[in-house]
Amino acid sequence: MKIPTLTILAFETSCDDTGVAVVKGDTVLSNLVANQDVHTRYGGVVPELASRAHMSNITATVDLAIKDAQISLADIDAIAYTIGPGLTGSLLVGTSFAKSWAWANDLPTVPVHHMRAHILAHFLAPSPSPDFPFLCLTVSGGHTQIVHVHSASKMDVIGTTVDDAAGEAFDKVAKLIGLPYPGGPLVDKYAQLGDPESFVFKGSKVDGLNMSFSGLKTQVLRFLQARLKSDPTFVESNLHDFCASVQATIVGMLMLKLEQAVAETGITQVAIAGGVSANSGLRKALGQREDWQVFIPPLSYCTDNAAMVGIVGVLDAAEGMFGTLRDTPHPRMPKLTPCGSPR
Ligand code: KG4
Ligand code: ZN
Repeated sequence: MKIPTLTILAFETSCDDTGVAVVKGDTVLSNLVANQDVHTRYGGVVPELASRAHMSNITATVDLAIKDAQISLADIDAIAYTIGPGLTGSLLVGTSFAKSWAWANDLPTVPVHHMRAHILAHFLAPSPSPDFPFLCLTVSGGHTQIVHVHSASKMDVIGTTVDDAAGEAFDKVAKLIGLPYPGGPLVDKYAQLGDPESFVFKGSKVDGLNMSFSGLKTQVLRFLQARLKSDPTFVESNLHDFCASVQATIVGMLMLKLEQAVAETGITQVAIAGGVSANSGLRKALGQREDWQVFIPPLSYCTDNAAMVGIVGVLDAAEGMFGTLRDTPHPRMPKLTPCGSPR
């Protein structure tokens, strides 16, 4: 796909990372993420604290993003920002800041769907990008979807979790063994040192391309309760094998449905996106599919970042799809569509 060379200042504040980036065409000129450590001690994101941290971080982050990109304000064509889905308070900070910034500098806005941004991150240079149509497994802390991507603006969700997201499953299991939030990356780290066949957990069976992860947490809880009764040091002495076994179960569930989606659609270009696409087990399993053309984003574009919002800004602005200063956050957005209207 040919990417227009517009310059976009982009904001991402859907959850607990304050992201600001400058993207010119498919080139990322700067991409900053201010992580919020404040949630670690609570074992999950505390929405009110996330909004407050976004407010304290955002001004310094935007200043630094513009400085790092070595551009002047006159170079910016439009302001893109995540309008949803996500935490209302967090989205409100980014939305208000981006719209104010646009208004003060007389620039148009491009409201962006967060999950569409995860998918279109595949069009950021320098990695090779897929051709349309392709399948994308979007796996994050809030979503687990198999998406049939017809074009940059037409995408159908053909499979989804019916309960917890895959990232949530990683985080909940991690919490059960006392790991801090977010536990997914830590489970991955320990899993790489363990044997995935040490313990057997069953993946839930769901019809069609849909998935379910909430049963895994209950299964793991019962398993741990039984093991800890006879061996109070079970977690410490089996940490690596335990994490490897849980990770293999989650990756197995995702791969099963992805294989089914490829069989049903006949599409063999397969991309992954979202925080869980950083997972080494998932990357390895995909790497073994020599019959597919697999697209795996660089780690910095897997977890929440504003560069992915920037590329959507470039594509939508080039199509004349803009927002207005009256746009407000949408915490839930079932359809993966452009959020602006023709101008
Ligand atoms: O896309 P993301 O940064 O934020 C959301 O939109 O949710 O995804 C965050 C999720 C968390 O659940 C985190 O534990 C998970 O992605 N995650 C991982 C890994 N890195 C991040 N899960 C498993 N393995 C990883 N390496
Ligand atoms: Zn995300």
